[in-house]
Amino acid sequence: MKNILVIHGPNLNLLGKREPDIYGKVTLEGINKQLTSLSEELGIVVDFYQSNSEGELVTEIQNAMGNYKALVINPGAYTHTSIALRDAVTGVGIPVVEVHLSNIYKREEFRKKSLLADVVVGQITGFKVDSYLLGLMAAAHLIK
Ligand code: DQA
Repeated sequence: MKNILVIHGPNLNLLGKREPDIYGKVTLEGINKQLTSLSEELGIVVDFYQSNSEGELVTEIQNAMGNYKALVINPGAYTHTSIALRDAVTGVGIPVVEVHLSNIYKREEFRKKSLLADVVVGQITGFKVDSYLLGLMAAAHLIK
């Protein structure tokens, strides 16, 4: 079984260009590189997936069953809307760490509700790229 899958949701492919004051200046490729370096230090294997499509994200979570021991997910805007992603997380039974670059509780009202928050192991929000690095560390602890 492979180790940890990091899933990036919609619009995260635009990181670096997209509202850098909120999401930071690091590109998605840069984030994945930092995660790969950290995974080597932690002695784990990490894979990456990004999609702008809710259905593709659901399929990827389903396909993780039997292939990954833990998931790190930034569901992007689907955090606040997607019962389908929530159901995929509960359906596969793989431990999930939810991460957000921005602090979703310090922003607009509609971002303060995560439909995944009570079905994931925990949530890390507001530390920009470090949210992902802390999320990977948390996921690595879960599978050790
Ligand atoms: C986000 C927060 C969401 O509200 C937003 O829609 C995103 C990114 C974050 O990482 O801060 O796309 O998940």
